Amino acid sequence: MVKKITLAFAILFSTAIMAQKQARIVEDFNKNWNFKLGDYPEAVNTNYNSADWRALQLPHDWSIELPFDKDAKTKQAQGFLPAGKGWYRKVFTIPANWKNKTISIEFDGIFKNSEVFINGKSLGMRPNGYISFGYDLTQYLNFGKQNIIAVKVDNDAQPNSRWYTGSGIYRNVRLVASEKLHVGKWGTFVTTPEVSTEKSKVNIEVTIDNDNASSKEFKLVTSIVNAENKEVANFTSTEKIGAKTSEKKVHNLELKQPKLWNTENPYLYKVITKVYEKSKLVDNYDTPLGFRYFNFDAEKGFSLNGVPTKIYGVCLHHDNGALGAVENIHAVRRKLTLMKEMGANAIRMSHNPHSLEMMQLCDEMGFIVQDEAFDVWKKKKVTNDYHKDWDAWHKQDLEDFIKRDRNHPSVMMWSIGNEIREQFDSTGIAITRELAKIVKSLDTTRPVTSALTENVIEKNFIYQSGALDLLGFNYKHEDYKDFPTKFKGQKILASESVSALETRGHYDQSEVIKAWPTKHGAPFDGNADWTVSAYDQVKSYWGATHEENWKTIKSQDFMAGTFIWTGFDYIGEPDPYPYPARSSYFGIVDLAGLPKDVYYMYQSEWSKKDVLHILPHWNWKKDQEINVWAYYNNADEVELFLNGKSLGTKAKQNDDLHISWKVKFEPGILKAVSRKNGKVVLEKEIHTAGEASKIDLKADKTTIKNDTYDLIYVTVSMKDKDGSLVPNAMDLINFEVSGGGKLVGVDNGYQANLDSFKANSCKLFNGKCIAIIQSNGKKENIVLKATTGNGIPVSSIQINVN
Ligand code: GAL
Repeated sequence: MVKKITLAFAILFSTAIMAQKQARIVEDFNKNWNFKLGDYPEAVNTNYNSADWRALQLPHDWSIELPFDKDAKTKQAQGFLPAGKGWYRKVFTIPANWKNKTISIEFDGIFKNSEVFINGKSLGMRPNGYISFGYDLTQYLNFGKQNIIAVKVDNDAQPNSRWYTGSGIYRNVRLVASEKLHVGKWGTFVTTPEVSTEKSKVNIEVTIDNDNASSKEFKLVTSIVNAENKEVANFTSTEKIGAKTSEKKVHNLELKQPKLWNTENPYLYKVITKVYEKSKLVDNYDTPLGFRYFNFDAEKGFSLNGVPTKIYGVCLHHDNGALGAVENIHAVRRKLTLMKEMGANAIRMSHNPHSLEMMQLCDEMGFIVQDEAFDVWKKKKVTNDYHKDWDAWHKQDLEDFIKRDRNHPSVMMWSIGNEIREQFDSTGIAITRELAKIVKSLDTTRPVTSALTENVIEKNFIYQSGALDLLGFNYKHEDYKDFPTKFKGQKILASESVSALETRGHYDQSEVIKAWPTKHGAPFDGNADWTVSAYDQVKSYWGATHEENWKTIKSQDFMAGTFIWTGFDYIGEPDPYPYPARSSYFGIVDLAGLPKDVYYMYQSEWSKKDVLHILPHWNWKKDQEINVWAYYNNADEVELFLNGKSLGTKAKQNDDLHISWKVKFEPGILKAVSRKNGKVVLEKEIHTAGEASKIDLKADKTTIKNDTYDLIYVTVSMKDKDGSLVPNAMDLINFEVSGGGKLVGVDNGYQANLDSFKANSCKLFNGKCIAIIQSNGKKENIVLKATTGNGIPVSSIQINVN
C-alpha cells in the first residue's frame, strides 16, 4: 500500500516537474536607453547626469539619421553618411530576488569598437562590429537597486569598410538570468549524424556551466518537439559537475520517420534542453533542429536530401535600406519574402556575420546559407578595416561566429573570407590552414570555403593551402568551362557573380551590352542623372549581365550554383558613379525593396510560377523606336499587340532568356499574351499613362502589433485617372502619420537621392516611393496621409493595430 502511494505520488510529482516550462529569464533589453553623439568618457560614472541625452529604443543606427556629407570620412564606399563616436546609457533595476542567479547581457551586434561599462566598471571591449557577444554582469550588479550600463561606440577611424556599416547598437540586446547551474553561452551543439526519412539520429552536446561554489548533481533532459510542438523523442540522464566549472554532456537520440527540411518545405523541429537540480527546473534552452543532408559533388554539383539542386543564390549586405543598419525581423522577413518569391533558394551572408533574426528566418523560410566570417584578414582593403584587429581577435571572432550559427539547419557552408588579399601571397597558405582548423574544431559537418578571385593555381595561395573543401569563385564566368580539368575532382561554386548595374524604371534604348567603365580608371559616358538603364545591358568590367552569367551557370552541371551580387541594392559602393551617387546599382531589387525588371528573368527561371513580364513603360515620344522585352516561362510563345494590332509572335530560341521586339511608339495599350499549346497562360498590359491624378497607397499588411517593433511598408505610386502608373512622376509626397504608428523611413530607390531617409516627405522616383511605418506602442489604428500640394487629391490609408 505504502509503495503504491509513493509510486502514484512520484508519477504526479514528475508530471508536475515536467510541466514546468521556463526557468531561464530572457528580457528584451532594447527599451529606455539614452544616447548622445560624441565622446563622453565621464558617462561611465554612476552619478553622471545624462538628462539632456536623447531617449530611444534600440536597435539604433545614428549614421542613417545624419545628412549625407560629400566630405564625410566614411567616403563614398559608405554612401557619404558620417560615422564618429557615440554613447548609450541605461538605468535599470534588478529584482532583489535575483541575487542567486547568473545574469548576463547579450549584444547581437554593435558597430564598432564597443566598450561596455556596468556601474562604472569596464566589462571589456569588442572591435568587430558584426559579432554577437555578451558579458556576465552578476558580480557587479546592485540587487533590488538601480544599476547603470554605459556603452561607448567608436566608429570614428575611417574609412573602415567597403560598404555602409551603420554606427551604434544596431542589433537587439537582451538580459538573460538563469540559475547558477545552467546551459552555457551558445552551449548546445546539435548534429544529425544519420538522416533519412526512415530514421534519423540526433547528437546533442550540451555545455553546462556551474557557477556554484559546490559541485552539483543534476538531471539533464532532452526533448525533441516537432513543428506542431508535440514531443517526438526524449532522453534523461543523471549528471555531476564540479564547483565553478564548465563541462560537456552528450545525449544521443533517434527519431523514426522524421520530416526532412528542404527549401520548399523547411520543416523544423526544436531541441528543448532542461536542467533539473533535485526536482527543480533550473534552466531551459531551445535549439533549432532540421533534418537534412547535402552534398557537393565535383561533377554533379549540389544536392539536398539526395535531390540535385542548383543553388539559386543572392548575396546580401546587412543594411535594411532606409532603416540603415537597424535590424528588425519584419524588415528581414520582407527582404527574404521578395527573394523567395523570385525563386531564390540561397543567401550568402556577405561578408560578415548577420543577425540572429536573419539566421532564424533562413531556417524558417528555407534558404541554403553560405555563412561568411571576414572580408579581410591581416592585409587591409581600406585603411582602418578589420586588418587592424586581426591578430588580437580573429580566433575569438571566428569561434564565436561558428558557435552561434552552427545549429542552424540552413547553414551549409562556412566561408572564411571574401576576396582575401592573402590569396596573392604565400602567407595565405598558413592563415587558410589556421582558419580551417578553427572551423573544424567546432564543426565538421559543413565544408569550409572561401570566395576567391584568382583561378590561376600558381597565383592563388589560399587554394594552394589545400585546406578548402569547396572552392568558391567570384566572377570571370567565361573561365568556368575550364574548371573541371583545371581543378579536377574539386567541388566548385560561383560564390559571387554578375555585378550588373541598373536603376529601377529607367530605360536607355541601346542594342549593345556595355561595361561601365570598360576597365579600371577608364572614362565613361554614363548618364547625366546618374541612372543606369534597367534593360539588363550594363555591367561592371569585372562582372557580367544577369543573362550572361545565368546562361553559363545553368549549362554547367559541375557548378553547384551561383550567388548573384546582389539581391538588393545596398547603401554605399555606388559604382560606377561619383557623388552624389550613394547607394549601389547591383541589386535585382532596389534599395526601397521595389523590384527591377530583371527580377522577373530570375522568377521565370528559378520559380515554378507562371511568369510574363514586359518592359519598358509605355510613355515615349511619338514614333520613337522602343525595345520591348518579355521575360516568360511555362509557355511556347508570346504575342505582342499594340492597340489591338499584332506585332508578331516570338519564342525564346536556344539559350535565350528573353524575347524582344522593336516597336515604333504610339500611345495606347501594349499587350503581351503567352500561350502554351495554343492556350493562353498569361496576359500583361502596359498603358500609356495620362496626367498624374491619384496617389495610390498599398500597405504590405493590413494589421500590425502595437509592440513598438512591427513595421508596415507602404508603396506609394502615382496613377493617372484610369489607374495606370505614371512612369515618370517625380512629385514630392508629404506624409503624415497619426494613431499607433510613426514614420521611420522613406525611400524611392534612386541611387543618387541625397534627401534624408528620415524625412517626412519623399520624391517619387519613376512613379514610386515607399514609406515605412513602425508601431509606436499605442493601440490606435494608424492613418497615413499622403499629399503633393500640387492639386492632386490627398490620399490616405488605414492600418489596424492590435
Ligand atoms: C566584389 C566584392 C563585393 C563587391 C562587388 C562589387 O568583388 O566581393 O564585396 O565589392 O565586388 O561588384
